[in-house]
Amino acid sequence: MLVHEEEPFNAEPPTYALAERLTTPLDAFYSRNHGPIPLTDTATWRLEVDGLVERPLRLSLEELRSRFPEREVIATLQCAGNRRAELIEIRDIPGEDPWRSGAISTASWIGVGLADVLAEAGLRPEAAHVSFSAPDVAQEADPPQPYVGSIPVAKATAGEVLLAWAMNGHPLPAVHGAPLRVIVPGWIGARSVKWLERITAKADPSDGYFQAVAYRMLPPDADPSQCGPGAGISLGPVALTCDILRPEHGSRVPPGPTEITGYALAGDGRSVARVDVSLDAGHTWTQAKLDAPAGPWAWQHWRTTVVLSEGEVEIVARAWDCAGTTQPESPATLWNPKGYANTSWGRLHLICRR
Ligand code: MTE
Repeated sequence: MLVHEEEPFNAEPPTYALAERLTTPLDAFYSRNHGPIPLTDTATWRLEVDGLVERPLRLSLEELRSRFPEREVIATLQCAGNRRAELIEIRDIPGEDPWRSGAISTASWIGVGLADVLAEAGLRPEAAHVSFSAPDVAQEADPPQPYVGSIPVAKATAGEVLLAWAMNGHPLPAVHGAPLRVIVPGWIGARSVKWLERITAKADPSDGYFQAVAYRMLPPDADPSQCGPGAGISLGPVALTCDILRPEHGSRVPPGPTEITGYALAGDGRSVARVDVSLDAGHTWTQAKLDAPAGPWAWQHWRTTVVLSEGEVEIVARAWDCAGTTQPESPATLWNPKGYANTSWGRLHLICRR
């Protein structure tokens, strides 16, 4: 893993560890933490469900498992800061980790449906958002505060959102949110709150730092230190993206045929229709072979063989979705002061030598 920070722990795998795997092994799954990992005693841990509900709930893990049907969702999690390093090459982004292409991973998650738990609690008509609270305190927040994020009721009750206790068939590891975390498929990873303690139905989105200040797309000319809560666009659903995973960026390959593999991921509610690859900066393209996804919320891998001539080569890839939308060409067109949502064409630089 490439460790960006030891405390709080932030690390991403090399892209080859993600390549061609429908799910990512636990030891290669990226880790994104804003505070220290809380150690929770599952025996005394309880999940509170409160706010604008008819029947507040207080549930142990055992009660959660026995009272609601178990569900499995294969979902890709992607940090909003994935591929920030390419944005930093355009213009510096102080105070944010330079994530490369590995802040994205996929797992099979097992838990109960958030919709089932909310149905038992009974959402009141005024409930428009559902917020998730965790005990980890982030010093980077102003003022330092526990981690909270929220999603609108429509997404919270859509069926795919899980309260998960298992990942790839294993109990959830501490670093990924044990004993229970939220999984919001199709949305930025920041809303998949780990070490979940409380679910609160509210009239408004969370006013916590990670909803009202961070994870917002500010205009390129904004100064984040001058932006108050609510500035910019609150990030939620992810946008169409794709990237190249193998060979490794900057590696040396012999001239001749080389297999290129990568992933594509459509935005919330859409699907990937096609992936194209170009060896001449997008003047001409060939179509890659797209694998079937493991489920509607998972990435799709793709592959193609290109014939390379000696020298330095840049290979680019772009995905199209079922609405005929494709990705922006360059990170420059997407640069924003906090370095979020770089969904520009996937780019791979290779040195082609005998
Ligand atoms: N939940 C809590 N409690 N604290 C956090 O710092 N980080 C969020 C989200 N949930 C975070 C959290 C972010 S920004 C991301 S991208 C995902 O968790 C990362 O999940 P992972 O570390 O399991 O990959």
